Amino acid sequence: MDNLAASILDHLWKDYLKTTPQAAEVHALFKARGETVVNDHIALRTFNRPSVSVDRLAEPFLTSGYVPSGEYRFQQKKLFAKSYSHPTLPRVFISELLLEQFPDSVQRICQALVDNLSTWAPEQLLTQQPTWAPVTLETYQELLGHSEYAAWLAAFGIRANHFTVQANALTTFEDIAAINTFLMGEGYELNGAPPHIQGTPEQGLVQSSTKASWIEWPFANDVTHKIRSCYYEFAKRYPVHGSQTPYDGFIADSADQIFESTNVTQ
Ligand code: NI
Repeated sequence: MDNLAASILDHLWKDYLKTTPQAAEVHALFKARGETVVNDHIALRTFNRPSVSVDRLAEPFLTSGYVPSGEYRFQQKKLFAKSYSHPTLPRVFISELLLEQFPDSVQRICQALVDNLSTWAPEQLLTQQPTWAPVTLETYQELLGHSEYAAWLAAFGIRANHFTVQANALTTFEDIAAINTFLMGEGYELNGAPPHIQGTPEQGLVQSSTKASWIEWPFANDVTHKIRSCYYEFAKRYPVHGSQTPYDGFIADSADQIFESTNVTQ
């Protein structure tokens, strides 16, 4: 049945808006232009440990009618990812950090976070935030020295890292460049160097994203600290290889760049 995935996505959207105030603002700006915002995909982050792996988190989506649409490797970021598609619901992109490629200290910290989750059902992992007790600011900063992804995941737990506006469904924007011009005019900072665009129509997927929101985030011992949370993404899909329908997958190189959007050092 479709309902399980739909209710998980609805929960993740509400949770995402709490950590990403700019998403609600941008959503409202588009609506004010008469647009109906359609979600192209959501991105989830996790560790490659059996209790929380990509395959585990994918279970409720697969039982809800999703089918696998691609696998991706990000050498530099030490990630593996899979994407899933559904006839009527947004695509789901799930990546996992390849912990064995990191020093023992990083592996120990991340393993300790997932140790308590072995009895959690996949639906619970996707809908029960926070996933684990707050880490210390020192732990966050130590992870940040090795991997922005690890630090983000330790701080925020399992939740949507971004939602994505499907540009194909918009009627008042020609392309991603037009969306970028609009967003910059509204005062939003975009990820990457000008023209702030990843991918090409020939590759099937053109994307841009806002820089992640800064929010005051609670760490252990009653410490709060301003860190970057989540971002909003924009994607336009094009047919490739003579197909009549837009490309359904993702592009590893493009995503490798877009992961930079939560980079706190930018
Ligand atoms: Ni994305």
